[in-house]
Amino acid sequence: MKTPDMLEAKKRCKDNNTEFIYVNPIINNSYDGKKYYIRTYGCQMNVHDSEEIAGMLENLGFVPTEEMEEADLILLNTCAIRENAHEKVFGFLGRCKHIKEKINKDLIICLCGCMAQEKSVVDEIMSKHKYIDLVFGTHNIHELPGYLMQLTGKLDVEVLSNDENVYEVGETFVRASKYTAWVNIMYGCDKFCTYCIVPYTRGKERSRKSQDILKEVQKLKENGYKEVTLLGQNVNAYGRDRDDEISFAKLLEETAKIGIERVRFVTSHPWNFTDEMIDVIAKYDNIMPYIHLPLQSGSDRILKLMGRRYTQEEYLELFNKLKSKIKDVSITTDIIVGFPGETEEDFEETLNVVNKCKYDGAFTFIFSPRVGTPAAEMKDDTPMGVKEDRLHRLNELINQYSNESNQKYLNKKVKVLLTDYSDRDKYKLSGYTDTMKLVNVDCDESLLGEIVEVTITDAKSFSLDGKVE
Ligand code: 5AD
Ligand code: SF4
Repeated sequence: MKTPDMLEAKKRCKDNNTEFIYVNPIINNSYDGKKYYIRTYGCQMNVHDSEEIAGMLENLGFVPTEEMEEADLILLNTCAIRENAHEKVFGFLGRCKHIKEKINKDLIICLCGCMAQEKSVVDEIMSKHKYIDLVFGTHNIHELPGYLMQLTGKLDVEVLSNDENVYEVGETFVRASKYTAWVNIMYGCDKFCTYCIVPYTRGKERSRKSQDILKEVQKLKENGYKEVTLLGQNVNAYGRDRDDEISFAKLLEETAKIGIERVRFVTSHPWNFTDEMIDVIAKYDNIMPYIHLPLQSGSDRILKLMGRRYTQEEYLELFNKLKSKIKDVSITTDIIVGFPGETEEDFEETLNVVNKCKYDGAFTFIFSPRVGTPAAEMKDDTPMGVKEDRLHRLNELINQYSNESNQKYLNKKVKVLLTDYSDRDKYKLSGYTDTMKLVNVDCDESLLGEIVEVTITDAKSFSLDGKVE
């Protein structure tokens, strides 16, 4: 049994001592025909971790099910970024407990992901949720098969707080899509923005070897994938933890040269977004003109308290450079309102930046104090009602600009990679433009998986409609 330790999780070793461990997949029939159900919360990193977990489970003989009531194993891959995720997870665990009591007493319940890295969560599980079989963390996902084979019927907690290694699991993933794939390029984050729990739950920045990444992309291309998204909490930092590694700009360029049709990346921090990166994005047609560039706040005072390492002026300078150098680039952002001590003036600075940037879209959040982070200790006397009002005002503005940016697509012809059946109309397909606009397309279903030219017939705030001529 290993439980999380926040102080240990905070430690950063300056030495470049990452070990690359090539994991052999465990393949056997221990669970032949048993059914698994995975529920994933949170970011793309978690979504991709769940693809790895699904791969490991299928190697043990498990088959997927969409119905949690008929599952033999339910796994929750959790997110710790805001408090509301916590409530959702414990609500869902209640349903799992019910199934174990009433339907299947042999049900295996596992919890992993970022919440498993929080001491308070694990303490709560150990005292009140003993019906759970296994809790494991973000650093030892690859050990799941071993843990499952040693289950005793009693709660087992296996959470490491600080592991500096990179585990290469090869082609163990069961990817959710046949056309678009996530590719991790690095793990962890060393930025320690004061509100954020990620540097504690995901650990130190560790880059994968560029050869391993490029090999993975090459294979995906050979297997018919049309799009890859390079994943990291802060991709600009790629390679900086090693003396012998290329920069992110170079990695992006090498990925583009493989010739896969579409290359994307998330997330880039505005700090250290180099000219070299901008030039590479502008140069290659298969690097998509779309950038998610979190602002968090427009107020210099709040940015400093957040530890974001840029001012409003620096952010706008970068934003304008991106807009001028990358043809038709679309830019989205993340914004937090109600950070401790945020005044009406600070908030208006955020609105000013939004008015200047006219974002294509944004994710907006009310500040949520996370235990163990510096911001959770800061004096915060803004009433929740005021924060909610700010969020509402911000969202109105964001929606207005996102609608305006979508209207510009009306009657235009755009390229869309058709990846799914439309959520709104099962006779239509859906997919994204180069600029990451969601389009519902009236076309023949044989086009699924293709990049097609679509004429936009209608534009709403959050999606476009189109048809194939
Ligand atoms: N409270 C509210 N929002 C947060 N985010 C990260 N931490 C917090 C927090 N404590 C937001 C940031 C980040 C996005 C993924 O989640 O905007 O970019
Ligand atoms: Fe969190 Fe900041 Fe790292 Fe993003 S860059 S994961 S907001 S600490």
